[in-house]
Amino acid sequence: MCGIIGYFGNRNAAPIILEGLRRLEYRGYDSAGMAIITNNGVKIKKDVGKVDEIHARLNFLEHEGNIAIGHTRWATHGGVTRENAHPHISNNGKIVIVHNGIIENFQEQRKFLTSQGFKFYSQTDTETIPNTIEYHMRRGYDFFEAVKRSLRHLDGQYAIVLIHEDEKKLVAVRKEAPLVIGVGEGEYFVASDIPAFLEHTKNVIFLEEKDMVMIDKDGLKIFNLIKDSFVERPIVSIDWNAEQAKKGEFDHFFMKEIVEQTEVISRIAKLEDGLIKDIADEIRKAKGTYIVACGTAAHASMHGVYLFSRIAKKHINFCIASEFPHFKHFLTPESLVIAVSQSGETADTLAAIRAAKSAGAKVISITNVMGSTLMRESDKSILQRAGPEICVVSTKAYTSQLAILYLLACELAGKLDEGKEKIRELGRYIYYLTSINMRKYLKQLAEKLRYTEHLYLIGRGLQYPTALEAALKIKEVSYIHAEAYAGGELKHGTIALIEHGTPCIVFTSEENEKEIISNAMELKARGAYIIGVGPRNNDVFDFFIKVREAGELNSICQIIPMQILAYQLAILRGCDPDKPRNLAKAVVVK
Ligand code: F6R
Repeated sequence: MCGIIGYFGNRNAAPIILEGLRRLEYRGYDSAGMAIITNNGVKIKKDVGKVDEIHARLNFLEHEGNIAIGHTRWATHGGVTRENAHPHISNNGKIVIVHNGIIENFQEQRKFLTSQGFKFYSQTDTETIPNTIEYHMRRGYDFFEAVKRSLRHLDGQYAIVLIHEDEKKLVAVRKEAPLVIGVGEGEYFVASDIPAFLEHTKNVIFLEEKDMVMIDKDGLKIFNLIKDSFVERPIVSIDWNAEQAKKGEFDHFFMKEIVEQTEVISRIAKLEDGLIKDIADEIRKAKGTYIVACGTAAHASMHGVYLFSRIAKKHINFCIASEFPHFKHFLTPESLVIAVSQSGETADTLAAIRAAKSAGAKVISITNVMGSTLMRESDKSILQRAGPEICVVSTKAYTSQLAILYLLACELAGKLDEGKEKIRELGRYIYYLTSINMRKYLKQLAEKLRYTEHLYLIGRGLQYPTALEAALKIKEVSYIHAEAYAGGELKHGTIALIEHGTPCIVFTSEENEKEIISNAMELKARGAYIIGVGPRNNDVFDFFIKVREAGELNSICQIIPMQILAYQLAILRGCDPDKPRNLAKAVVVK
């Protein structure tokens, strides 16, 4: 949810942290802050608002130093106020922290510290951490030992980065929340996500659960709190590049990532056959396969169920990840759970796979982030290869998930080569779907819809999850109320809401054209304004978006104009498509 970053090296840390905060802003943007160790002690600047607004007011670059930490916040405990913004500092003004996650027993800990004379200046759970460390340091422990002891008293999930004014040291710990280390020449970066430091290094250390990183002038050491000993972790070179994490010629990451789908889909066509075959074999062997995910990844997973049924004649069960633990009773050591998650850090998805593992089931993941918790906790993984997805709203990660699920279904049906050829060909068509002409055409539709309050979407078969995903995109970035239904379902109640002029988007395909057009007519008869998306125009449509027939790949083609429409609506309605209100990338709390 929040984004955290730390730097320890020989350069001035302030500009590095500021740039890192900009890159991490997609993880939370209620407030932001920075702390830097200078020759005159530690200096903290923090406030409510977006990083650049705060920078304009407070000047994050005012102070210089070689050790610093930063934070972008998505509030959990305590309102969006300056006091609750991070970094937080201990009572003696020496220990400074940034934190992502939740300290579950913070109320008890706060009570205890208050009884010991500590004062609290925010409503956050975080403030208990530096003060617990100060408490242990007062009793004679050094900084590292005090951090270790403090964490024994703090329950919950966290990624934290700490600095100490006098000690010129940086300590970082992860427990059920993301944290990666970047290793440069005589310098180290610690962050929630790789794009935060990608400009400086591609050499990364993925931390394991309860790893505590200690960095000082002698270098970096990792102590594992579970093993209670020092451990070695490999340095991995990653293949993302800094350009992928920048907006380039685009005004927003949202549009950049929509356009990147041509490339992403072409990359999926090059996935190694061995990997697809291996995962398909696991599905063949399993006695019961369940696919779990949240949000957009859940829509991709639902698609998967249709694809496995149609192409591979195989029944796969789908469940929203947060509900999956309620079905754990079905699981046996012969079950297989496939978890789909762009970030690989979504708390509900992780809880689902942990429930599966506790029943002895095998876990396979489809994720975009190498080294993510999901990947590390899975028995096997397929990496999505979509490149960093910076926009809070998922686009290219979604279509890459669809393409991977399609290839798995093809392999199960013995048609992997054919499937790959179709995906390859699709890549070229997506280039057209994201063209400037298409964007202009969809802007005309956005102009018609910009003042609408309610919008309905229908689709049948594969177009049903497409309708769900299109509705989510529109809601997230334009704040228009959009609701999707299976074509046959709307008339069972919700049709009561259709009035003169209510916009309804209807997804069609050659296969279900007759039935869905009948549903469109039912809506038109009640005065709806009908927008058709599909291969063939029809008299019932007031506006038509032509997308060529692509059979089982219709879903990938048809969602792209909807992503663009959502973008255009956001712009016309004055919303920031990269940072929708109340949202955060990687929802690491349940
Ligand atoms: C919507 C969106 C979210 C995520 C969901 C799961 O645009 O991005 O609905 O899809 O929070 O996230 P991951 O895929 O990271 O598990």
